[in-house]
Amino acid sequence: MSKKTASVNYGLEKIFSGAQDFLPLLGTDYVEFYVGNAKQAAHFYKTAFGFQSHAYRGLETGATDAVSYVLTQDKIKLMLTTPLHSKSSINNHIVKHGDGVKVIALWVEDARKAYEETTKRGAKSYKKPTVEKDEFGEVVSAGIYTYGETVHLFVERKNYKGTFLPGFQKWESDYNPPTAGLKYIDHMVGNVGWNQMNKWVKFYEDVMGFVNFLSFDDKQIHTEYSALMSKVMSNGNGRIKFPINEPAEGKKRSQIEEYLDFYEGAGVQHIAIATDDIVKTVSQLKANGIEFLSTPPEAYYKAVPGRLEEHNHELKEDIEKLKSLGIMIDADEEGYLLQIFTKPLEDRPTLFFEIIQRMGAKGFGAGNFKALFESIEREQEKRGTL
Ligand code: FE2
Repeated sequence: MSKKTASVNYGLEKIFSGAQDFLPLLGTDYVEFYVGNAKQAAHFYKTAFGFQSHAYRGLETGATDAVSYVLTQDKIKLMLTTPLHSKSSINNHIVKHGDGVKVIALWVEDARKAYEETTKRGAKSYKKPTVEKDEFGEVVSAGIYTYGETVHLFVERKNYKGTFLPGFQKWESDYNPPTAGLKYIDHMVGNVGWNQMNKWVKFYEDVMGFVNFLSFDDKQIHTEYSALMSKVMSNGNGRIKFPINEPAEGKKRSQIEEYLDFYEGAGVQHIAIATDDIVKTVSQLKANGIEFLSTPPEAYYKAVPGRLEEHNHELKEDIEKLKSLGIMIDADEEGYLLQIFTKPLEDRPTLFFEIIQRMGAKGFGAGNFKALFESIEREQEKRGTL
């Protein structure tokens, strides 16, 4: 698609300079996955993605309902949780959705205020403000529901000096594989059902004070077979970005529909993780056995120099190297970005990771949507779900 067809709003700082941000967010605190076997999942995310052992909660620490492993890599914190018996409510989530994201925890200065401001604007409560303490201090957390069964937890940790959260102990492991250069979460994308995108855009605007930063309609995001619509929501300081997708009518089944069918509802589609050296990161992930979507065709790479020239940017990386790894390139006025997408990380074709390196560009790879979706459709074809 051409940049001219997307509606772009890069003026977030200006918008918020005169307005009161009623929900100041300091960043992403952690992301919690509910999984069928957290011990084995933790091994996978350490081995394959270079995450490091950080904190643990389980039978040994007095937890009787569920066990959680917390992994870190630079600023990213990933929690993997499994129920310890059949009566845990976590089972229902896993039976329905398979492994997936339950909690997107947001780091705040004041969790009670975050809860009050969002619930009074209509958010459905998940957890009332709760204080948890141990010898390292206290953490206040409170939660609200977003799309599907996904939750935003507000975490206030200014009076806490422990490893992670009260109830967790430091997880010391003898197995410490090298990191993969993953730095921070750039954005997290939600898939919602038919005609639900604008409802959730309004939720992020009204309840959380976000702004609609970029929009793409189905005329811009489509292939020969399928289509989707997407709107990118950002909080006031731009640290949190949540694109929201919904399926659109096409000749065949949209990848968003495939997700909704297999996740059995709305949920997190992908987590985009930033790196400073995508060539090194992706080479390492491939060596660790991570599978990525197939490389775009030759014609795609032939068009790249022209796309960069159009915006007067010069590619610093070797294009042959990018091609050999299947890394895609997109450009806008401010710079370019490099990105690649893994295949789904579990057996259901649901959650996947994006690896992204920003070289000035603030977009989401709209110029790559067509090539990307054709690649996803080749996978859907193999699964018989196109
Ligand atoms: Fe993305």
